[in-house]
Amino acid sequence: MTSHIPIIAIDGPSASGKGTVAKLIAKKLGFHYLDSGSIYRTIGYAAHMQNIPLNNEALLLKVLENIDLSFKNDQILLDSKDISEAIRTEKSGQGASEVAVHKALREAILGFQRNFEKSPGLVAEGRDMTSVVFPHAEIKIFLTASVQIRAERRYKQLISKGNPVNIHSVLNEIVLRDKRDLQRALSPLLKTKDAIEIDTDKLSISDAVDNIAHLFSLRYQTS
Ligand code: C5P
Repeated sequence: MTSHIPIIAIDGPSASGKGTVAKLIAKKLGFHYLDSGSIYRTIGYAAHMQNIPLNNEALLLKVLENIDLSFKNDQILLDSKDISEAIRTEKSGQGASEVAVHKALREAILGFQRNFEKSPGLVAEGRDMTSVVFPHAEIKIFLTASVQIRAERRYKQLISKGNPVNIHSVLNEIVLRDKRDLQRALSPLLKTKDAIEIDTDKLSISDAVDNIAHLFSLRYQTS
């Protein structure tokens, strides 16, 4: 029985800032951190390396069976190789969203994700953390921002890492990924009824972190 372990679940669209915010809250509270998107990105990356088409669920399940995925500090390790940077490209984001439409694959990684629910607590971010993976989370946040602001953020992030991109293609890719994530039949991106929406268009990362940490402390003092 793990229901006493506090969970902060954060969902939201691509480039809403949820990764940065979730990581900082986890650090602030000393909690574990789950970046669920990196699991889909890694499966897409591993499939690409083996020339496996992303629409072939049976083969993707085999890929999943045969990979050793682990998180160490800030690194994502695939068979002991650090792929943290390699899976951050927009192409791998698109690949992840193609991988993410498969039902059996989503089910196969549920247990892996739920294993992150460990004392003293967890901050989990993704598309279905509040709805499917941790529906019992104490705090549910839907972190969002306008598509223009998200495209600018992603553009700056990619440029700073030396990726030669232009703002229009970044914006188009975000629109495409939003569409795929919102319209898919399984675990689509949605704001659950009990989630609190935080719009980061005019909010700094540190303000978003403080707001969520405050909500968490209020909930904990009253329960
Ligand atoms: O959050 P990130 O951009 O790394 O996610 C990459 C893709 O993985 C998303 O666009 C989405 O399609 C998929 N994803 C998902 N469920 C999650 C996390 C990510 O379907 N919990």
